Amino acid sequence: MSTADLDALIEQAQTQFAQSDTPAALEDAKARFFGKSGQITELMKGMAQLSVDEKKTRGAAINQAKQAIEQALQARRQALADAELARQLQAERLDVTLPGRLRQPGGLHPVSRTMERIEAIFSSMGFDVADGPEVESDWHSFTSLNNPPNHPARSMQDTFYVDIKDEQGQHYNLRPHTSPMQVRYAHQHVKKHAALNAAGKTIPDVRVIAPGRTYRVDSDATHSPMFHQCEGLWLGENVSFKDLKYVFTNFCKTFFERDDLVLRFRPSFFPFTEPSAEIDIQFASGPLAGRWLEVAGSGQVHPNVVRNMGLDPEQYIGFAFGMGPDRLTMLRYGVNDLRLFFEGDVRFLSQFQ
Ligand code: FA5
Ligand code: MG
Repeated sequence: MSTADLDALIEQAQTQFAQSDTPAALEDAKARFFGKSGQITELMKGMAQLSVDEKKTRGAAINQAKQAIEQALQARRQALADAELARQLQAERLDVTLPGRLRQPGGLHPVSRTMERIEAIFSSMGFDVADGPEVESDWHSFTSLNNPPNHPARSMQDTFYVDIKDEQGQHYNLRPHTSPMQVRYAHQHVKKHAALNAAGKTIPDVRVIAPGRTYRVDSDATHSPMFHQCEGLWLGENVSFKDLKYVFTNFCKTFFERDDLVLRFRPSFFPFTEPSAEIDIQFASGPLAGRWLEVAGSGQVHPNVVRNMGLDPEQYIGFAFGMGPDRLTMLRYGVNDLRLFFEGDVRFLSQFQ
């Protein structure tokens, strides 16, 4: 092959490489020169037949052509890789000038704010704050509260039952009120002061609130199937209904930061208190002016319940109440349907931040 032929071969390779648009096409083109029977491969094979002198001149020329084609191949490979990278960069480009998504700052739920206020006010009056289970035994929810199985007063609280039974064969339930915490907490308190009790000495007063979630088959503007209650209990040697009126009235005036509140203790019935009263609040002014809203049940703790707490009802008396923090939140902010609190609508909830 003459030098001119070799030059033509180089040119042919360059053209074919340039026409290869993809790495696969380029590898095909390469095979035509460097493959098993590629043109360069054939030339290299032919070198064996050349004389020593010819090898010096022809061989050198062939080698040069081979190198030139290898270089062209390498250059084309690089060009294809660069083009691929450029394409990817373009396709995956981020527009860093777009405005980002703002992170919405969260806040406390209005009912949580109420709970915190309740805890702060009662803590300042010397009450302990206790927490207890939402899935509760039949005994704690009803029987220990002087409300035995089949008693008609049970139907006052249409309840969610859980498919688990206790040792007495009674269903566990989603607690319909926080009153079970009266017995749970008093038991603990008595246990803590067992030594005093055994020595016939007076144990310190039981003074506690127990806020938390409660459940009933209820739904209207003032009832939600999941709602909140806050129990209160004060037992001692001389705690009377007068103390209940003082403590609860004082709490409401502090909570609402108003002195013009009117409270009504309306005679009622609970198996676990005697006498019993429901507590209603009326506002003198504002969006709910003139309307009475029941916010709590209350009364003097029934002797049978005091006994179930492990205390002697001849020695310890006192009051209990169970209030509805959701209702207090409605009154405080002038909201007319408490189910709004639990729908999770950010437009509604963000108004309280
Ligand atoms: C009780 O649950 C008694 N355990 C309260 C009590 C405790 C009485 C201690 C005596 C001694 P009542 O069912 O009335 O009582 O509920 C108490 C308060 O919880 C109501 O006044 C109301 O504010 C609130 N409440 C009751 N049901 C709902 C409901 N479905 N949604 C929102 N709030 C409710
Ligand atoms: Mg009631």
